[in-house]
Amino acid sequence: MSKTKTAFFCSNCGQESAKWVGKCPSCEEWNTFIEEVIVRGTEKPLSEWKEYSGLSGGIKTISLQEVTSGEEKRIITEDAELNRVLGGGIVLGSIVLIAGEPGIGKSTLFLQASLQLKETVVLYISGEESEQQIKMRADRLGIESEKFFLLTETNTQTLFKEIKRLKPQLVIVDSVQTLQSPYVESAPGSVSQIRESASEFQRFAKETNTPVFLIGHITKDGNIAGPKILEHMVDTVLQFEGDRNYAYRILRTLKNRFGSTSELGIYEMTGEGMRQVNNPSEILITQKEEQLSGVAIAATMEGIRPLLIEVQALVTQSVYGTPQRTNSGFDLRRLQLLLAVLEKRGGFHFGVKDVFINIAGGIKVEDPSIDLSVLSALLSSYEDIAIPMLTCFAGEVGLSGEIRAVNRIEQRIAEAEKLGFEKIIVSKYNVRGIGKSKMNIEVVPLGKVEELYKYLF
Ligand code: TYD
Ligand code: MG
Repeated sequence: MSKTKTAFFCSNCGQESAKWVGKCPSCEEWNTFIEEVIVRGTEKPLSEWKEYSGLSGGIKTISLQEVTSGEEKRIITEDAELNRVLGGGIVLGSIVLIAGEPGIGKSTLFLQASLQLKETVVLYISGEESEQQIKMRADRLGIESEKFFLLTETNTQTLFKEIKRLKPQLVIVDSVQTLQSPYVESAPGSVSQIRESASEFQRFAKETNTPVFLIGHITKDGNIAGPKILEHMVDTVLQFEGDRNYAYRILRTLKNRFGSTSELGIYEMTGEGMRQVNNPSEILITQKEEQLSGVAIAATMEGIRPLLIEVQALVTQSVYGTPQRTNSGFDLRRLQLLLAVLEKRGGFHFGVKDVFINIAGGIKVEDPSIDLSVLSALLSSYEDIAIPMLTCFAGEVGLSGEIRAVNRIEQRIAEAEKLGFEKIIVSKYNVRGIGKSKMNIEVVPLGKVEELYKYLF
């Protein structure tokens, strides 16, 4: 007879402990430990897929030279953005975690991508939606596929039984939080349950060379709810993000054993599913007739893709004692730093002004090269003078008001030129070695914030 065993798990990082502790020794979060029942039978039966793969149980060490390398085989999907984010298609035998907030569009994106794979047998395991709901969604997407199979089951061993019968070439699990392994007693969604179910799928993926996608919900603060532990278990971690009030979604690589992590895919959520956005810059810049003050265009990089984004600033007289600093899409501390630089180096009195910053499209920008356009938008709104149209900016601003060089400047300039901009303002330390001869755009090198002010107004 098996004995009931319990253990305590940190709901943030998955750290296990025999007793309850107040502060997690691993991630240092407070009050995150919860008790979960785990029953470990003395002997674990063989997992269901063992026979399917025809593996013998023999274990032996081999020398690295004996291992045949060869290119990894990949399934190329119809979705070019997804292929790129994965480093060039889905690697056979890989296990991929897709994390995103509930309602952001994970199920839609992967249902769409797998329905488009007409030549691949796909098994879509849904623990969240019924067959009818998925059918309705597929109808809405307007794609049909004969090789797409559905399973609304959550018990992992029952799943493997079905998998053994169907022999899918791609397995999608929506979501990992609904899986339930019979070897662990605790409820679905608990740390020990997620860990066990995911590791069963991980071994399945490796031993049968079938790619597996695990969809997982993350909490508001960006933690992959509880199972941060999954991050090191899987080959690739993709994050699907975006502001739910806007239509744009970004698929970002956080970890990839088969490609670069600076890749990024951009989608637009439409009534008929996700649309790939091939030319994001054109949408992120509003087309306007008249010149408005407080608007500046930034030539940023998202991963390795250039992206031109509109920055809007509003500077108004403060009514209350404490001036307001409100921003969306830009780091608040970075904004305070830029305001301090303007206060100290330029003699502007932002201390008595309310300041609002907005990055168009609900996109969060981390690239420091956006500094220069935020600063220009602030100045433009402060002076109420519009920045000339067809001018854009790429530069970081330092504490002493110097304009600093940014990476991949040629790519930024080329993108601005492609979109018909006439001028790009950059750091003077950036222009060395740029071949200006064949350019259709004027590159304006500046060294200090004071020079920028003189140049613009
Ligand atoms: P969903 O894929 O269910 O999100 P997740 O799996 O990440 O929780 O997407 C839910 C939202 O997407 C829902 O509010 C409806 C919307 N939606 C569209 O806008 N267009 C569509 O074609 C579909 C299928 C959904
Ligand atoms: Mg979903």
